[in-house]
Formats: sequence, C-alpha cells, structure tokens
Amino acid sequence: MALIEINKLTKEYSSGIFKRRKVLALSDVSLNIEAGNIFGLLGPNGAGKTTLVKVLLGIAFPTKGAAKIFGKNVKNHRIKKQIGYLPENHRYPGYLNGEEVLNYFGLLSGMKYKDFKDRIDELLSLVGLEKWKKMKIGKYSKGMMQRLGLAQSIINNPEIVFLDEPTDGVDPIGRKEIRDILLDLKNKGKTVFLNSHLLSEIELVCDRVAILNKGFMIKEGNINDITAVSDRYSFLTSDIGDDFINKLLLNYNAVIRSKNNIIFEAENIEKLNLIIDYLRKENIFIHGINREKDTLENMFINLIEQQKQQHLNGN
Ligand SMILES: Nc1ncnc2c1ncn2[C@@H]1O[C@H](COP(=O)(O)OP(=O)(O)O)[C@@H](O)[C@H]1O
Ligand SMILES: [Mg+2]
Repeated sequence: MALIEINKLTKEYSSGIFKRRKVLALSDVSLNIEAGNIFGLLGPNGAGKTTLVKVLLGIAFPTKGAAKIFGKNVKNHRIKKQIGYLPENHRYPGYLNGEEVLNYFGLLSGMKYKDFKDRIDELLSLVGLEKWKKMKIGKYSKGMMQRLGLAQSIINNPEIVFLDEPTDGVDPIGRKEIRDILLDLKNKGKTVFLNSHLLSEIELVCDRVAILNKGFMIKEGNINDITAVSDRYSFLTSDIGDDFINKLLLNYNAVIRSKNNIIFEAENIEKLNLIIDYLRKENIFIHGINREKDTLENMFINLIEQQKQQHLNGN
C-alpha cells in the first residue's frame, strides 16, 4: 500500500459574481507516493500544485475523486497529527519572535509543551536561526521566514511533510541548506512532498517527480528515468588538433564542445568501444566518459510544448 494514494482527483473552483467563473485546477489526477521518498511536484504557476496539496491536507475539497494518506481518507482529521505543512507564502504575526512561533505551532499541533520544548532549540539551530530566535519575525528576511516555516512544519515530528515552494526567496546557500535538511529527513525514514516551480532544485533532491500542467498530470516517474538520454556520451580527452577534429566530424556523429570535450552518439556499447579504440589509436588520452542526461528543464519545456501542440491540433 502506498503512503499517499490519489485517485482520479478533479477540483473545479467557482468564483466571481454568482460563482459563474469556473477554473479547472485539477483534472482526473491519479498518483501513488511511497514512504521514505522525496517526491517533487513540478509545474508552472497556476498548474494546480497548491490545490493538490490542499486537497491532500483536507483544506480544499475535491469536486470528484478521493485521496488517502496512511490508508485513510484525507477527510479523517486524526491523520493530521502525523503530517507537517509549510504553506506557500505563509505569514505569522510579526510581533512574535522565532521561538514564540515554534512554541505556538507546537501547541497548535496538539502536543504537550514538555514533549516539544527541547525540539524548539534543536530545530532553530537546524535551520540556522538560533541567533535570531528572540528577534521579532516582522524583521526577518524572506529567506529567514522560509527557514522558520520549515522548522514549524516539522515541530510535531511528522511522518510526512508537505512543503509548498520552500525555497522561494531563499539565496543559493540557504537553498543548499534546505536541501540538506530534506535529505536528512529522508534518511530518518520520513516522506517529503515538495511543490516547486524551480526545476533545478527538484532535480537535486527528489527521487520521483510528477509534472502538472493546467491541472493535468503530464508525466510521472523516477527522476533518472525521466531525464536519461540513452545514446549520447560526453568524452573528456587530452587536447585534439584541428585536423583530427575534422576527421571526427566527418566519420563519427560527433559534437565538438571544445578541444577536449566531445559528444558522440553511440547506439550501443560496441559502437562506444569502437570510438574509444579509435581515439586511443590516435594517441588521444581519455580522461573520462559520461552518459549525457537531459536536464529536467529541457524535458519539462519539451513536454509543455508538446501539450500546447496537441491542444492546437485539437487532440
Ligand atoms: N480559491 C480559489 N478560487 C478560485 N480559483 C483558484 C483558487 N485557488 C486557485 N485557483 C486557480 O486554480 C488554478 C491552480 O492554482 P494553484 O493550485 O494555486 O496552482 P500552482 O500552485 O501550481 O501555482 C489557478 O488557475 C488558480 O488561479
Ligand atoms: Mg502554488
């Protein structure tokens, strides 16, 4: 049994005068998420990521379909004790300090003070805010607020934590620190559900990803399978002279990136080894060979483009 089971969820919002404006935020979305993984939900703004998380948390109600966490319907409030949540664009009252925020959310989560009081300092130091714990959060930067939000989301030591755009507004070092915390949670056997429109972030930590666009799930799978490009190899070599480069261009399907970095297409291992033999015969030293991967960003842009084309063609 998967930890999170999402079965044909559809969510239509009605808004405007007489609720006449309809927005299809999720359309027939199905997905299973296993325990102990970092799962990334990707998609451009307005794709439906926040809506999906809200449905899973029982904050928004589906128009059709259902979802379960720990085998129980998400409407069951008891499951929330084991869930943590960092909302997108969260706001806490500015007159509280960092320590008070964690105290407040610890109590809100239904825990006894004695059971989480030691965790407050532990978490503040985990997210690098121990020095600022007495400062009013009205003075915190966006990055500090995100760190505090992350600490808040795990104050109750949850089994699953939902993080909606956790690195939004955080500088590169802060992002790396947040990624390390997510990996640490995973190592402790926790499940992380990460919403993000920042593809490179997701690429660096997630085991599995799903891509939403305009409410439709357009791809789901293991991150390595999704980004693998099967038959391109990048060679790092000693410097190659111009004459030999011309031969490579002529005889092999080579792409020259620089004098010592060449990409070959090799549809099988025999072909790859023939290229190695050829380079070695010419006394070229091979420093390394890497199988090329597509970036998640390329893959993502291609998929969104394909979907646009299908719409234009009326499919
Ligand atoms: N409360 C709401 N009422 C009406 N429309 C909404 C509401 N919340 C979200 N939407 C619309 O639903 C779509 C999906 O939004 P959202 O789930 O926030 O996407 P994402 O998190 O991927 O940016 C958007 O078109 C958004 O405008
Ligand atoms: Mg969102």
